[in-house]
Amino acid sequence: MKSLTVLSPAKVNLSLHVTGRYPNGYHELLTVFHRISLLDKIRLTRTKTGVSLRTNWPGLPTDERNLITKAYRMIQERFPDLGGVHVDLHKKIPVGAGLGGGSSNAAFFLLAMNRLYKLGLSRRQLVLLGKRLGADVPFFLYDTNRAIGEGRGDKIQPRPLKRSWNFVLVIDSKGLSTKEVFEKYRLEPPSDSLTKPKRTARMLCTFLDRGNPSALIPLLHNDLEKPAFSLRQEIRKKIQKLHKAGFSCVRMSGSGPTIFILLPMSDSLESAVRRVKKLLPSARVEGVKTF
Ligand code: C5P
Repeated sequence: MKSLTVLSPAKVNLSLHVTGRYPNGYHELLTVFHRISLLDKIRLTRTKTGVSLRTNWPGLPTDERNLITKAYRMIQERFPDLGGVHVDLHKKIPVGAGLGGGSSNAAFFLLAMNRLYKLGLSRRQLVLLGKRLGADVPFFLYDTNRAIGEGRGDKIQPRPLKRSWNFVLVIDSKGLSTKEVFEKYRLEPPSDSLTKPKRTARMLCTFLDRGNPSALIPLLHNDLEKPAFSLRQEIRKKIQKLHKAGFSCVRMSGSGPTIFILLPMSDSLESAVRRVKKLLPSARVEGVKTF
């Protein structure tokens, strides 16, 4: 096999509770990850040595700062005779959006390298590498469209979902830094004990399985909204506007600024996208599904 193309999906966090802080500054989370059909395409081609990266996304670093390059270096540490790779990264997932795009790219690059070079790395070994690249990377290494994440968000319990939900994404043209949003969170007291977020996450999964949207409203939650709103007030304003227009399941994903609307099964995705575009004409609006 000389080359390999993989699709790298985005995620939304249907719930995200901050449950504590580690001495190294990282936050302890309890979150429900859900994969969606906003897809980047990654094409890997074998070369003699080293790694090179090309992307359609303006301003995205393609040097040693890129998570794909970092992932290559990690594999190379383990396999010093590793051959080279050229990567074409066609991005649709915005950068710094709270949709896990960079983490997904790194995870799917690791999975693809494992196949391209028949490295024989087990899921456990891949997850150990993934954790070093970022807290959201392990979720994408599991073959599941949904999971509960604990620890830094990197301890994954797969909870595959059999039905498909529709989402509308409201994407800001300017990203937010995850680090900055978490730093703002430090000003707030921890929101909950661990029991409540765990129960919330499990109930959320159950109601999603049953297809019951009204029961979901109080369970969708994101502790990072407040700190993100303090950095960018427009997120709150957009959410309020969507609520006023009658959308009930509306939340920010991850550290933002992307907002998602979870649609009742009976609603048409196309008409919801049209309505949201009218309400928020300056935003990029995308209709997506469980992936
Ligand atoms: O793991 P990742 O590199 O994606 O995280 C980016 C930043 O977000 C970290 O440097 C840290 O400041 C913050 N973070 C955190 N707690 C988490 C995940 C991320 O404080 N569970």
